[in-house]
Amino acid sequence: MNNSKHILLGITGGIAAYKSCEVVRLLKKAGHRVRVVMTPAACEFVSPLTFQALSGEPVLTDLGQNDNAMAHIQAVRQADLLLLAPATANTIAKIACGIADNLLTTTVAARGRCPLAVAPAMNVEMWYNPANIRHINQLQQDGAVLFLPDSGDLACGEHGAGRMKEPAELIDLIEDIWAEKSLAGKKC
Ligand SMILES: Cc1cc2nc3c(=O)[nH]c(=O)nc-3n(C[C@H](O)[C@H](O)[C@H](O)COP(=O)(O)O)c2cc1C
Repeated sequence: MNNSKHILLGITGGIAAYKSCEVVRLLKKAGHRVRVVMTPAACEFVSPLTFQALSGEPVLTDLGQNDNAMAHIQAVRQADLLLLAPATANTIAKIACGIADNLLTTTVAARGRCPLAVAPAMNVEMWYNPANIRHINQLQQDGAVLFLPDSGDLACGEHGAGRMKEPAELIDLIEDIWAEKSLAGKKC
């Protein structure tokens, strides 16, 4: 399809990682190509094999048998968007500081001109932690698009802000980014 994009989906180690399965499914259904990169913690929540099956592409992990050591660099150069969903407080803090200590954070650091969108997901106390707010502000200043979390029931059993946006809403927000770019006559 003409509007088909290449999305590099970064998955971090939060309970909302299970929602990323639906994100991949919906992106594929919309005709996009999806490549997944996972942190070691994310691999504890959902198996890379699940994302390999859903995306139809090999998954990039620190421990994976990536046949090309520079596959993450190639993947981010080919991508129209690098989307982190879910993004943990830990990974948000790291990328706000430019830390590149695993394959996902290294990929973010090497993204060059690839747009970055971040969908945080965490406990309400983590969300309002002043350090986290500082890091979120930093990412926005650095040009990342933030898909801010909603308030509601959290997987940890509490209620409040920190709930990742639902997959269908994320897909709509991503399409909005591209619609705005194409209206402005720019390539995303
Ligand atoms: C059961 C469980 C659920 C967790 N859920 C979250 C979460 O939703 N958001 C978050 O920021 N951290 C969460 N954490 C903490 C992260 O897993 C931890 O900070 C980890 O180091 C994140 O690594 P990563 O950012 O490299 O993926 C959770 C931890 C556990 C044990």
